[in-house]
Amino acid sequence: RRILIINGPNLNLLGTREPHLYGKTTLKEVEAAAQAKAAELGSTLQTFQSNSEGAIVDRIQEALGNIDVIIINPAAYTHTGVAIRDALLGVNIPFIELHVVNVHAREHFRHHSYFHDKAKAVICGLGAFGYISALTYAASELQLD
Ligand code: DQA
Repeated sequence: RRILIINGPNLNLLGTREPHLYGKTTLKEVEAAAQAKAAELGSTLQTFQSNSEGAIVDRIQEALGNIDVIIINPAAYTHTGVAIRDALLGVNIPFIELHVVNVHAREHFRHHSYFHDKAKAVICGLGAFGYISALTYAASELQLD
């Protein structure tokens, strides 16, 4: 499998950003662990982080024809990001929506997602381990139609 992990705004601050919520693992550490897991499972992994919606749309469009599964944490764009939703539907690549924290246990405005009705799966609340869990599923169990 060719897997792409996309992280949205402020996730470059993982590890130092509100650590009581998001934990102390940095994005670099998450990506390194995910790379190791992908190699172990015989998959290739690309990672991308951006604070800008347009850059994320561009990256999704670039995945057309060369990526089998996208794991995306749209971060704050989860709750606002129609353009990112449209890009995912436009390339028609199966995706897993991921959140580090359980968004349903947080503010009401975080309960709505522009992605969850189209996602193959939604993972939230598993912390940094969520990325490894999503990757393991994407690399092995996920049925690609
Ligand atoms: C998040 C949850 C979002 O509500 C928030 O805006 C984020 C991170 C998470 O991973 O828990 O930036 O997607």
